[in-house]
Amino acid sequence: MTVRLEDIQKHPFVEAFICQADANLAALGYTEHGKRHVGLVSSIARNILRRLSYPERTAELAAIAGYVHDIGNSVSRVHHGPIAALLIAPILQELQMPPHEIAQVLSAVGNHEEETGHPVNEVAAALILADKSDVHRTRTRSKELIDFDIHDRVNYAAVRSFLDVSDAERIISLNVTIDTAICPIMEYFEIFLQRMLMCRRAAEFLECEFKLTINETHLL
Ligand SMILES: [Fe+2]
Ligand SMILES: [Fe+2]
Repeated sequence: MTVRLEDIQKHPFVEAFICQADANLAALGYTEHGKRHVGLVSSIARNILRRLSYPERTAELAAIAGYVHDIGNSVSRVHHGPIAALLIAPILQELQMPPHEIAQVLSAVGNHEEETGHPVNEVAAALILADKSDVHRTRTRSKELIDFDIHDRVNYAAVRSFLDVSDAERIISLNVTIDTAICPIMEYFEIFLQRMLMCRRAAEFLECEFKLTINETHLL
């Protein structure tokens, strides 16, 4: 059976797991990880592979992996990637997705965390790039927290964030605009350096160069 992103989005367990994941992370004081985040990651992951001329079905698998990548947070923040893979496996089986496709989605979902993940294939690489580049003001839950929490401050300061993919030049560039009245660029690096290095490895897997530009200054 050809399982599409819409089939996943309609599934009641996926819906429940995403809502629970976001509620758990809200309780723990993390930034937004709900439908806005997973919807965006899903479409960016798909677009990265489309722009680089990967097969349409591979891009669809990246969209599916993007949509479900954070559901493991419904169980635990620690190891939420591998947990998400275990949670989504029976759902994909129930929808009769072919086993080799399930395996690819699971490998991507299980490898998206910067502590333990690696761009093990093109779907995983696209997911890493899409997930790690989502830094934006709209992810901040409470304006009061920006004085205390660096993640909230950096996200709140990011007024624009755009991932640009050039097929011809094989360059993937993340362009971020930071309001430096809210946070200095160093703070972005303090929490995002690991993620940016992971993005570089993911881009390399896709035979691209990764570039990071903040406030029109080329930094990586
Ligand atoms: Fe995650
Ligand atoms: Fe995520």
